Amino acid sequence: MYRNGHLHAEDVALSTIADSVGTPFYCYSAATLTRHFTLFKEALDPLPHLICFAVKSNSNVAVLKLLGDLGAGMDVVSIGEYLRARAAGVPGDRIVFSGVGKTRDEMRQALLGGVRQFNVESEPELEALSQVATALGMEAPITLRVNPDVDAKTHEKISTGRKEDKFGVPISRARAIYARAAQLTGLRVIGVDMHIGSQLTELAPFEAAYVKMADLVRDLRADGHTIERLDLGGGLGIPYTRSNEAPPLPTDYGAMVKRVLGDLGCEIEIEPGRLISGNAGVLVTEVIYRKQAEEREFLIVDAAMNDLVRPAMYAAHHDIEPLVEAEPGAPMLPVDIVGPICESGDTFAKQRALPPVSAGDRIAFRSAGAYGAVMASEYNSRLLVPEVLVSGDHFAVIRPRPSYDDMIARDTIPDWL
Ligand code: LLP
Repeated sequence: MYRNGHLHAEDVALSTIADSVGTPFYCYSAATLTRHFTLFKEALDPLPHLICFAVKSNSNVAVLKLLGDLGAGMDVVSIGEYLRARAAGVPGDRIVFSGVGKTRDEMRQALLGGVRQFNVESEPELEALSQVATALGMEAPITLRVNPDVDAKTHEKISTGRKEDKFGVPISRARAIYARAAQLTGLRVIGVDMHIGSQLTELAPFEAAYVKMADLVRDLRADGHTIERLDLGGGLGIPYTRSNEAPPLPTDYGAMVKRVLGDLGCEIEIEPGRLISGNAGVLVTEVIYRKQAEEREFLIVDAAMNDLVRPAMYAAHHDIEPLVEAEPGAPMLPVDIVGPICESGDTFAKQRALPPVSAGDRIAFRSAGAYGAVMASEYNSRLLVPEVLVSGDHFAVIRPRPSYDDMIARDTIPDWL
């Protein structure tokens, strides 16, 4: 939001942070994270529920602590994410462990550390978890992630609930696998889990999946299983452009959940990531050069695909705004916004209409709070991008920019070289 001509995060001008931290950097708003979490809470009340933030979307420990302190649980997919959640002070009994390839070592650590449930994704995983828990003399609470064979109508790379996708167990085999789970030692069946994809912009695929889930719950109960928790996954989409997108809101989603699943007497768990963190963050970068080529003009900025990979990886759109508001009536001219990395895929936007921006000016990529910093790498030996959290009129660096010495010191030269 512009205030006095300057783009602000809450009450702090992003230029102030850029002056202090340098560019590029990610910046998140505590108030927006809080608001998005609260929206889900209000949408599901008064159903008993736990909102498990998908740590994969933004795993900064300060962000996790903020949400954990509001009462959020966490959805983790690796022991690394589990340990981050614990470091943020989230108790084990609020952490659900998802993921298609949990190792025995990860299972052991989570069992010993305390975990709310494992969302088991295959029969071999079920057998492995049974063995690990039995060896520890423990009982692992489990759901099975069921693949309902529903097309989420989202990007190919983030659709997860069709039968050709690698996730979950086929719904047609669910009863047989639950029967197997009930025979195995060290396991306690407590519910059913689903996650059909990410950035869903319609409710219909969710509803189709949850109708199948409700039928399955009735069948499983008839088979004698105790089904007391339903994990509905995440995936509710966000607007990436401010003009023409209006995906369903948490309220709409909550109303549908109550209608389809409300009478089953289960505790509801959801795993939203993007809707909570996506529009709570921006990536700020500085223009290094404005370059006129034969066919078009390029803005070469100091962020690159290693810092925000979504445009290169999913052809994703992020709105772009200069930190200093354009003069009224300034011309909007098409430019290609690119990073310094040595491949043409390092392009954030092509022929994007922007007001005049010159070298030294800064711009922000919006909707970058989810799947931004977490997907960053050091490609081209670029330093991992720092992260900043704003609350009201103050900000804090929640991950500093490393030094080149830190980066290089992680490599070791063998003594025979
Ligand atoms: N639960 C499970 C089991 C998941 O696999 C995911 C996301 C979520 C929850 C959270 O979904 P969300 O509410 O954030 O849509 N890197 C991609 C997105 C990958 C999503 C993977 N799974 C992107 O940048 O669009």
